[in-house]
Amino acid sequence: MKSRVHASAASAAAILVALLAAALPGSASAGTLNGERPIVIAHRGASGYLPEHTMEAYKLAVQMGADFIEPDLFLTADGVLVARHDRSLNTTTNVQAVAATNPAIAAKVMGTAYNVDQLTYAEVKSLTARSRTSNGYQTVDTYFDPAYDYKVAGFSEVLDYVYGIYQSTGDVVGIYPEVKTIGGNPAYNLAIAQALLAALDDAKYGDFFDGHLKNVYLQSFDQSIIQYLNANTNLPAIFLTGCTNTPAQAQAIAQYADGIGTSAGGLSQACVDNAHDAGLTVHAYTLTNNPSQYQTVYDLDVDGIFGNHPDVNKAVRDQIYPVPEPASLVLFGLALAGLGIARRKLV
Ligand code: G3P
Ligand code: CA
Repeated sequence: MKSRVHASAASAAAILVALLAAALPGSASAGTLNGERPIVIAHRGASGYLPEHTMEAYKLAVQMGADFIEPDLFLTADGVLVARHDRSLNTTTNVQAVAATNPAIAAKVMGTAYNVDQLTYAEVKSLTARSRTSNGYQTVDTYFDPAYDYKVAGFSEVLDYVYGIYQSTGDVVGIYPEVKTIGGNPAYNLAIAQALLAALDDAKYGDFFDGHLKNVYLQSFDQSIIQYLNANTNLPAIFLTGCTNTPAQAQAIAQYADGIGTSAGGLSQACVDNAHDAGLTVHAYTLTNNPSQYQTVYDLDVDGIFGNHPDVNKAVRDQIYPVPEPASLVLFGLALAGLGIARRKLV
């Protein structure tokens, strides 16, 4: 009779544990590769609200709860990493207006383009950054101050910023730098990758960016760059490529990459499953401010989504993968303790 009481207690505790575990984020019920919650990636910062790749856009993304901020990277003419999506500065800065009164910059035009690799860091920093006008970027002006002089962010500023957060609060904000490339110039492209690894390895950051905190992903559309990164760092390298439609495709990529970044429009459950079965992380890009689109993509068990609106991205992620309430955690702990006691009594 006594053992039946203990067995009932054990069963009840086990049921309670199972129920609570199912409600916890990062539980085994998550269909992501590592069983943890998918990550909210702020694409070019909070680029749906502020000029992309500015410190203000990155900081707003962090305030909105992004897990990772995403700088795309080019090297300036004097070898400094800057956060830019486009090689040409024409698209999201006032370079053409500046060139009209700055002969040194004007002399660097290639055709009609003022390319970031032709200007010095100081010259890039002399420009004012603006949002591109295409759909999905600065969809509202709520956060935008037209009188403010937004600047193209230097990569060192991004690293100093997230490391500063960690030093002052202990919070870990991840970074997801992308090696951009110039066609026909593999030496330049390789130099970006090398400068990136050197920056992350700077002694002033200690071991913060060495990967043990799972706060760094590296990415590129260039397969040779991914292969270089794979061979030269233990940080996860994400190959930006098409959907892995077959297991063989996924297994081939897994030979030199840790995951794929792929367009949300081309995703399917088979693609995600093939990638996961090959051990590949799957991150989808790029969504904007439509919650139902985030819902659809998260429902495919992706491991993260690049989005221009981190608040929308996070809201949907959190709804699907709720943060545990402190009370739930206490109950969970009590249940585990109860289960342990019941088991001890049974033996
Ligand atoms: O890197 C993921 C996503 O950002 C790829 O698109 O062109 O915005 O860099 P893009
Ligand atoms: Ca990118």
